[in-house]
Amino acid sequence: MTPPTVAPAGQTVAEHASAIRHWRPGIVQDVPPPGLIDLGPGYPDPALLPVGLLRAAYHRALDEYGPAALAYGHNAGALPLREALAERAALADGHPCGPDQVLLTAGTSQALHLLSGLLGRPGDMVITDQYSYDLGRRIFTDCGLRVRAVAMDELGMDPAALREALRAEHAVGRRVAFVYVNPAFHNPTGIVVPLTRRRELLDVTREHEAVVIEDDAYAELTLDGGQSVPPSFAALAGYRGVLRLGTFAKTLAPGLRLGWLLGEPALVAWLGEHGMLVSGGSLNHTTSLAVATVLRDGDYDRHLTRIRAELGKRRDALAEPLRALLGERMACRVPGGGFFLWLGPGGTDAAREETYTAAAEAAGVRLAPGSRFGAGDRPRLRLAYSFNPPAVLTEAAHRLAGAWAA
Ligand SMILES: Cc1ncc(COP(=O)(O)O)c(C=O)c1O
Repeated sequence: MTPPTVAPAGQTVAEHASAIRHWRPGIVQDVPPPGLIDLGPGYPDPALLPVGLLRAAYHRALDEYGPAALAYGHNAGALPLREALAERAALADGHPCGPDQVLLTAGTSQALHLLSGLLGRPGDMVITDQYSYDLGRRIFTDCGLRVRAVAMDELGMDPAALREALRAEHAVGRRVAFVYVNPAFHNPTGIVVPLTRRRELLDVTREHEAVVIEDDAYAELTLDGGQSVPPSFAALAGYRGVLRLGTFAKTLAPGLRLGWLLGEPALVAWLGEHGMLVSGGSLNHTTSLAVATVLRDGDYDRHLTRIRAELGKRRDALAEPLRALLGERMACRVPGGGFFLWLGPGGTDAAREETYTAAAEAAGVRLAPGSRFGAGDRPRLRLAYSFNPPAVLTEAAHRLAGAWAA
């Protein structure tokens, strides 16, 4: 494996190198081996993590709330943040949402774990897209649930396939804990489910009284200012039967472990009665108050504008040379938002997925095989453009094109 040939000339390459100096085992989750360009995990670029913004935010929260910022927090989460999140949801969806519809979580992973335990019983089925967030599936199965993946097309989950799956589960007397969707800049495919398809899917879940969990981890990460995300499933259903999950992991910082859940007031009140919250209070109280000040002062929107632009540059720095160099040989879905490119060999290329990942790794690029996210009839590859600066991503594209040319 060759070391990166990118000279740390561009400012962001230097910033990236400086930002990862503390990327050490035992400190952060995953440390890429030296020389390897890691397009595997969906991590934000360390150079884009807002250290100064959050330093100021924690200061403000401690100044304003004093010891109340360090107490056990209100079970459902601190009101200033719940109010701000409800207001943002109402504005984005054009549908009312109040703070009594918000429960703060320790990120989407924790929310998925909580809901798996409360809505599911061991052996129940979770219905997902054909390809879906691999670690979400891992949480479901670790909670004793089973996963049934249903076919998807270019617009997301296929309503007829969903109906068939719900019927089949009902026919064998198996409970469906919930239907899990990730309809805005889907991980891994980047698909945004359009409005009509959202309505069709909701009609099917209503027919079968199935609960929907809507994971909107990337919904705020529109990169072109163009592709807008339709109203959420939750808003379209008037929140009946839908729980919508959000997280600051992709927009602010994953280490905050801060997210939220939106639902009907009675359901949210019931979730807030969980012993874990009654015992420990809100899961991330001090951080919630700090982040509330970021939302209140408009800093969050300014930060979003900046990272959308940065992510857009990163997406283009990877996608454009890949398309130019590989052409028809590799179909590449370039999303309007989120973190990922989704690739599939074009034509009749029948090489196995591992052939592509192994060649990439030998050229010093790590990426995620599509089979990690679900089964398909053709090889698929997911490339995250979120972690590396543009110059490194362009270098990765050249390495991949060279590796796959053979
Ligand atoms: C679709 C999706 N949901 C949830 C998560 C994890 O969210 P959190 O860090 O808030 O637990 C990810 C992260 O990769 C994701 O891609």
